[in-house]
Amino acid sequence: MSQKTDLEKIASKVASCKDCPLYKEAQNPVAGQGDPEAKVVFIGEGPGANEDKLGIPFCGRSGNLLDKLLAQIYLKRETVFITNIVKHRPPKNRDPTPQEIVTCTPYLRQQLLTIKPKVIVTLGRFALNYFIPDVFISKSHGQLVEIKWEGLDLNLMPLYHPAAGLRNGNVLKDIQADFIKLGFFLGTIKKKKPSTLENKELEKEPAQTDLFSKN
Ligand code: URA
Repeated sequence: MSQKTDLEKIASKVASCKDCPLYKEAQNPVAGQGDPEAKVVFIGEGPGANEDKLGIPFCGRSGNLLDKLLAQIYLKRETVFITNIVKHRPPKNRDPTPQEIVTCTPYLRQQLLTIKPKVIVTLGRFALNYFIPDVFISKSHGQLVEIKWEGLDLNLMPLYHPAAGLRNGNVLKDIQADFIKLGFFLGTIKKKKPSTLENKELEKEPAQTDLFSKN
């Protein structure tokens, strides 16, 4: 069975999931989006209002920033996979509870074991602490670590959540600098499947231009 079919099955399980209370107030499930064979997976916290309305991860203000950051390192959204720790929106964008995370993350686990990425980019502390508990994002952001997780060899890059960058200019600068590091790292990875992580795109050096100019 193809990875695409397997991911669709996981998404349909998410859609009918009532294992925690989050589904009650959510309008739509947000399982994830992107290339089923992606080498890079981005993991956020949970859907916000726009994501809940459309069923698509990172399609609001944070998503707009994420798109700009991806463009800065010549990555197209369609060539990566984007998902979240919890798949239904926590009411009023509150933090997901530990119980909701424990209940929901088996879906993330199944997604990752299906995609088998080489690189995980965690956006914010909830995604980081799913892989490495008790680590502070303020200390570890931008530092690539190799981890063994569920039999997969993963390169994990912890980043601040884009929403934190929208609230604080200094954090935004950190995110931008960390993305440049991510871009250089991706350029060093041996590409076995050029179709999923386009060689030509990754061989370029990340742009050093000002991401946040109005053009
Ligand atoms: N914030 C997240 O963590 N995930 C989304 O999908 C959107 C905003």
